[in-house]
Amino acid sequence: MKFNNIKDMELENKKVLVRVDYNVPLKKGMVEDDTRLKATIPTINFLLEKNCKIILMSHLGRPKDLLKKGKSLEDAKRELSLRPVADDLSELLGIDVGFVDDCIDVKIPEDKDVVLLENLRLHAEEEKDDMEFAKKLAENGEVYVNDAFGNCHRNHASVSAITKLMPSCAGFLVEKENEQLSRLLNPEKPFVAIVAGAKEDKIGALKILAKKADKILIGGVLANTFLKAKGYGIGSSKFDEETFKVAGEIIKIAGNKLKLPLDVVVADKFSDDANAKNVDAEDMDIEGWMALDIGPKTIESYREELKNAKTVFWAGPLGVFEMQKFCKGTKQIGEFLGSLNATVIVGGGDTAAAINVFELADNITHVSTGGGASLEFIENEGRLPALVALEEAKNSTVL
Ligand code: 3PG
Repeated sequence: MKFNNIKDMELENKKVLVRVDYNVPLKKGMVEDDTRLKATIPTINFLLEKNCKIILMSHLGRPKDLLKKGKSLEDAKRELSLRPVADDLSELLGIDVGFVDDCIDVKIPEDKDVVLLENLRLHAEEEKDDMEFAKKLAENGEVYVNDAFGNCHRNHASVSAITKLMPSCAGFLVEKENEQLSRLLNPEKPFVAIVAGAKEDKIGALKILAKKADKILIGGVLANTFLKAKGYGIGSSKFDEETFKVAGEIIKIAGNKLKLPLDVVVADKFSDDANAKNVDAEDMDIEGWMALDIGPKTIESYREELKNAKTVFWAGPLGVFEMQKFCKGTKQIGEFLGSLNATVIVGGGDTAAAINVFELADNITHVSTGGGASLEFIENEGRLPALVALEEAKNSTVL
């Protein structure tokens, strides 16, 4: 897509409003994983060198889900405040990052070069792409930079409407994600996709990959779902209802490109101290037992499918990688990907977390910071709502 990048803009001494995706896991008020913070440092440093005042805005979690559960806005604000993130960012940047406890109608502290605004989603208008709300956000700066790749699949005010109001461009992270993920749109062949994990969010991407990829290797809960759709009994293994409904259609499009586990590791409970054993996929129908990883024959056969690949896309862990007993599939396939002479692109979310746990990032071409965003990037051939908004901004008169 053709949008302005940060180097195309007049930025010297400007007040720059930067949308970041600091939707990070918090535990006891501390940032548990700062990957998304680190990913925005190049943009922040570039702006600091241009003598800009940087006003960062982000969402955190889904406050509306808390409100639906009967919690008050004040509770949501306490649980989903970005304040702890400002402290972590201060440490990473080595400067004191200011924090403002709202994102509109606020006075930006003059004595701080970098300021983080409170969670955008504490205002319902953010998720409605509300123009009046966007106008209020726009009052906080003179130029807009979108560096929130993880949120680019959302049509929200801080990534869409706002681009109609001020000179707008992509930050270095969005530029890099767009460039790297675009390699999957016209991939060098053979192109192998590994699609796994527990969520139903992969249906759209699977339909595209069923046509585009040369092989699709399935793991995780998704594998149970496809095995069930093929008529296998899966014992007490989890499967995904939504994917189950369309599994037949995907099997039809993909034909024999779609590879399912030959064997799995089953366990008698969802725990690292469960009794566990390897069984062939056709023997996994054991009452009370569930598949929690792919087995050794599958690891071997997936390595075989991958060894000549020139492009690989990996979305979703192949088993419960957080548990020692069920991490082998994810770990060993991840390590093997690092040995390939191929472009290897990893979707964000849980797969990115697994890459961190097993310290595999150095041998991977690109690990996306966007989970849903990277899948929708494939599904929509790169045309994510926020990227389309940036493209339209480039062609509009605001500039
Ligand atoms: C993510 O973590 O995938 C992004 O921050 C988007 O969050 P959302 O799924 O709540 O919109």
